[in-house]
Amino acid sequence: MRTPLLAGNWKMHKTVAEAVELVEALLQSIEQGYSTDREVVICPPFTALYPLAPLLAESVIALGAQNMYPADQGAFTGEISPLMLKEVGCRYVILGHSERRQLFGESDTLINRKVRAAVGHGLTPILCVGETKPQRDAGQAETVTLAQLRAGLEGLSAEQLRGVVVAYEPVWAIGTGDTATPADAQAMHAAIRAALAEGWGATVAEAVRVLYGGSVKPDNIDALMAQPDIDGALVGGASLVADQFVRIVNFEALSA
Ligand code: PGA
Repeated sequence: MRTPLLAGNWKMHKTVAEAVELVEALLQSIEQGYSTDREVVICPPFTALYPLAPLLAESVIALGAQNMYPADQGAFTGEISPLMLKEVGCRYVILGHSERRQLFGESDTLINRKVRAAVGHGLTPILCVGETKPQRDAGQAETVTLAQLRAGLEGLSAEQLRGVVVAYEPVWAIGTGDTATPADAQAMHAAIRAALAEGWGATVAEAVRVLYGGSVKPDNIDALMAQPDIDGALVGGASLVADQFVRIVNFEALSA
């Protein structure tokens, strides 16, 4: 059984003061009536991690970062190491988000180094993969997504793969309000799981959580979560609004 994971990607939003305010609102509503059959993580900007850690320490919400550099320390101006993330209480780290790939030129090779460094330090990577609109229109959605998946996870043992979360985020659905249909998302999630089974064995593939991301909102979360291979969501815009994120966390499991 895979425990559903609902993850908030705050991107470059929220000062420390605003972050504290949002977390206080989330804690109040999420903890009332929270079901322990699901896990929640929020990934604020680096500057908010340290001040938020004590607020979240005894709570049901885990802390994650949005990026990191694959070295413990050194001359890497502007970067943050896995040790630093662990020190401030992070358990998760988003890696290979399409904004990092597109705006900051991150390659599959660099992303793979980050995934391996995260796993090596006991952080759970949330590896993002997904195709652009032109790639989907050209019928390459699956090829592109699976190539990113295999490259991102290269070199991991089956045991290490168990500690990884994958997020399928079609680039054309991110921040656009244009979400994949539950059936299209399910088809890609099934393809991702089949690729994991081929590379690492069926048992591990069944254990890995595959999240969907791209315009996840209160009004589409239930239908997405009803799909057998969708194990949670990576939520951008709607994770910045307490009521919306709480509704997403409290998704209702509809029968598919
Ligand atoms: P969105 O972002 O929910 O605002 O589409 C998702 C993401 O980029 O992870």
